[in-house]
Amino acid sequence: MSFSAAAIRKDFPIFGRTVRDGKRLVYLDSGATSQKPLSAIEAESDFYKFHNAAAHRGVYQLAEEATDAYEGGRAIVADFLMAPGGADEIIFTKNATESLNLLAYAMGNAPAGNRFALKTGDRIVVSEMEHHANLIPWQQLAVRTGAELAWFGVTQDGRLDLSAIDQIISAQTKVVALTHQSNVLGTINPLAHIVARAHEVGAVVILDACQSVPHMAIDIGALDVDFLVFSGHKTLGPTGIGVLWGRLKLLDELPPFLFGGSMIESVTMTYATWAPVPQKFEAGVPNMAQAVGLGAALNYLTKLGMENVFAHELSLTGYLLEKMMSIPNIRLIGPTDMNSRGGTVSFTVNDIHPHDLGQFLDSQGIAVRTGHHCAWPLAQRMNVPASTRASLYLYNDEYDCDALVNGIMEAQKYFGAL
Ligand code: ALA
Repeated sequence: MSFSAAAIRKDFPIFGRTVRDGKRLVYLDSGATSQKPLSAIEAESDFYKFHNAAAHRGVYQLAEEATDAYEGGRAIVADFLMAPGGADEIIFTKNATESLNLLAYAMGNAPAGNRFALKTGDRIVVSEMEHHANLIPWQQLAVRTGAELAWFGVTQDGRLDLSAIDQIISAQTKVVALTHQSNVLGTINPLAHIVARAHEVGAVVILDACQSVPHMAIDIGALDVDFLVFSGHKTLGPTGIGVLWGRLKLLDELPPFLFGGSMIESVTMTYATWAPVPQKFEAGVPNMAQAVGLGAALNYLTKLGMENVFAHELSLTGYLLEKMMSIPNIRLIGPTDMNSRGGTVSFTVNDIHPHDLGQFLDSQGIAVRTGHHCAWPLAQRMNVPASTRASLYLYNDEYDCDALVNGIMEAQKYFGAL
C-alpha cells in the first residue's frame, strides 16, 4: 500500500483542530507522547461504555467480557512484539518507567541464591545516553545492593563508545540495561555485539524500547534480549498502560514487586505463594480500558505495516536533517547521517535559549520539546544544558519539516541572531 501521512492524519481527531489563531498543528513531539487514532480512543471508551467490570474477578457476563478484552490486548502486544513465549510473557504496567522500576525493585527483592540477587562485587551496566527512567532505577539498585554501576560513554557524534566493551561488560556484570534508540540523539544502538558480550558473561539484557517499538518492526527473538519495555502512550495508545516483556523462564525466577490481590496462589495470615506469570506481576485491578486501547493502537500500526512506518520516518528524517544542516549556526546533537538513526533530531541554534525557541515555534503552531529531555548526564556529556527536540512520527510530512526549518530561521531573525 502507498503510505500517505495526509490520509493517516485524517484518522487522528486532534489534527482536525488548529492552534495559535488558526494555524495547522505541526506536532513534532511524538518522542514525548504520540497522538491517538480514533480507533484507539473509541476502543478505550467502548470498554467503559459497554464492558466495564473488574477483569479476572467476577463470574458474571460483564466480568467475562472485561477479562476477554483485557487478555485480548495482551495477545495483541505479544503478536506485535513477536514474543516467542506468547501472551504469558507480557506484563502490563502503568508505563515504561514503571516497567523498569518493577525490574529493578524485583531484583532488589531477590533472596541470596536467586539468579537476580545482586551484591557487592556485582556490576550493572548502563550507558551515558539513558533516559532517567533507565538510569536512576539501576543507579539506586546499585546503591541498595552494593553493586557497582558502570556505563558506556557517548562519542562526540552521538554514538555509544564500545571501544572498551569487554572491560565494561566484565565477568562480574549481572545486568546490562540499554536504550534501543536514544530519545535525544535518535541513535539506534548496535545491539547484537552488546547482547552477545552480555550473554557471554551470563548477564541479562534489558532493553528500553520506548523510542523504537512505536517506530520499527520488532522481533524480540531476533534481538535476543531478555527483557524489553515500552510505553503505550508513545505507541498511539492511551496513557496509563506500559509493557514489560520478559523471557518466561526469567519471569518465573524473578520475585514479585507489588503485592496484593490477583498476584497470589494461596494466602495465610503469615505466608503467601505467587500466581504464575503474568499475574504474579499484576497486583490490583489492572488498567483494562487502557490495555484495550493499546491493542487497538497496535492493530492500527500493524495494518499500516511497521516496515512502512519506519521507511516513512527514515525518509522524512533524511529530508529534515539535510534542510537543518543548511541553517547557519545550528548545532545538531546526535548523528548527522542516516546510519542507524531514527526520527528524533535535537539541536541548538546560535545562543537562543531552547525555551525561547520553543515558545517562538509554538507561536507558529509548531510543538517541540525543549530542555534536557530527562537525560541530564547526556546533556552534560554533549555540553548542552538544554536543547530543542523535534521527533517525527507516521503522521508527519515534509510540510511539518519545512515549517520547522522556516520557524527556526524566523526565530533567528526575531532574536537578532543572524
Ligand atoms: N520520555 C519522553 C521524552 O523523551 C517523555 O520526551
